[in-house]
Amino acid sequence: MEKNDYARKIPEPCTIVLFGVTGHLSRHKLLPAFYDLFHRGLMPAAFDLLGFARREWSREEFVLWAKKEIEQNCRTGFDEEVFSLMAPHFYFAKGTFDDEKSFESLKGIIEGASKDQDTEGRTLFYLSVPPASFPQVVERLKESGIADPKNPLQKVMVEKPFGRDLESARKLDSLVKSAFSSPQIFRIDHYLGKEMVQNLLPLRFENPLFTSLWSAETLDHVQISVAESAGVEGRSAYYEQAGAARDVLQNHLMQLLSLTAMEKPEGNEGERERKIEVLKSCKIENLERTSARGQYTEGFEGGRLVKGYRQEEGVNPFSLTDTFAALKINVDTPRWQGCPFYLRTGKRLPKRTAEIALILKGEGKEKEGMKGSIVFKIQPNEGVDVEILSKLPGEKLMRKARMGFSYEKEFAGKSPEAYEDLIEDAMLGRSSLFPSEEETECSWKIIDQLEDFWNQNPSTLDFYKAGSRGPASSDKLMERDGRKWRKL
Ligand code: BG6
Repeated sequence: MEKNDYARKIPEPCTIVLFGVTGHLSRHKLLPAFYDLFHRGLMPAAFDLLGFARREWSREEFVLWAKKEIEQNCRTGFDEEVFSLMAPHFYFAKGTFDDEKSFESLKGIIEGASKDQDTEGRTLFYLSVPPASFPQVVERLKESGIADPKNPLQKVMVEKPFGRDLESARKLDSLVKSAFSSPQIFRIDHYLGKEMVQNLLPLRFENPLFTSLWSAETLDHVQISVAESAGVEGRSAYYEQAGAARDVLQNHLMQLLSLTAMEKPEGNEGERERKIEVLKSCKIENLERTSARGQYTEGFEGGRLVKGYRQEEGVNPFSLTDTFAALKINVDTPRWQGCPFYLRTGKRLPKRTAEIALILKGEGKEKEGMKGSIVFKIQPNEGVDVEILSKLPGEKLMRKARMGFSYEKEFAGKSPEAYEDLIEDAMLGRSSLFPSEEETECSWKIIDQLEDFWNQNPSTLDFYKAGSRGPASSDKLMERDGRKWRKL
């Protein structure tokens, strides 16, 4: 992290190829992120943004469609004039992933764009495609000679899921590495692009207030939560194969855990090594007592009656897929002996929130609710809350009081969307915000143990009403240790 001598670099001229341009992620996050970067003056001076999809679109039709998506989903405010400056950079290539000819013509288009924009062959491929199409796209990129593993100016951004277990993740990795070399590959975990997540290490290491209490000596335990009020949202085909543990625990939660538990890295590049040390030290045991999984049933979201998971379109009416997962992890390093990490995630919980809460040790026989805490709020309302115990005025009683740092109040502006930072960093060739192959594998090793246990013990699946705090088994997991989840 550079301190105050920071001078912002602008990426060099580049051709961007977006596979899966008509998909949900591209419409809601990627196209808007490119626009927001352009609006902020952070796109290269010369670039082409090439959408690849099967639709019968002319360039004009593509631009009109993209405009609508950007208008609806951009962060920085839609400005006709800005868009009219950006639109000439948009191109569309019609094609399907199984068709060699589409890729031959794509090659020609990329070469032409490279000459026009003087990119020297600098290309960013963004693979936002369904898992089933992934091998085809990589094969075609390889066969057509578009992918060049020896060209350091080529980069590829790869969207999750990275497999559904260690074995499939390894297969996927060797497939990508058959077309691109390791330094060219940027695996995405969009949580690492979130502003508050990027601020976790600076807050911890630049402020003795936090550094001094960051260990089991002062902390009782750590709770990391990623909760959503939304349900499966039309993604049942993917979600039925994944479930909450594979969808969020394996990646976002394990990344948050490793950032929280890591030792101090030497510069940005050391972060990955430090995270790997944590992941290798994670111990899970007695899973019948230290894990919980659940599936939502019919209930309410914000006063609206919503379906149970098994009634969602495309879901097997007898599905055993978890929509909630919780896990206790011991990090076996000198810093964390006796201070466990509790992770939970779920859909159709009372609200959308993501936070890392460090729960401080209480004095003597303090009740759980009377422990102080430091809460890093990732979303919504980014910031840090320090919860302390204070005497009630005029009483002899103690109560929790809050000291708060709020991004909104302090910085008066909206933070960039995670994808803005991730795309910018990939264009600049900065890799620290992207999990390495080894990190991904280490966390699969943990999740595989959990999934194996759940497979062998189907009765561990517990149910919870949509809009509730999750299954009772999750509360029990904490109660066994004399602890409680924070309120969602
Ligand atoms: C994605 C998961 O990785 O993260 C989704 O596939 C989940 O199921 C999403 O909804 C949550 O991200 P965010 O940024 O909305 O918290």
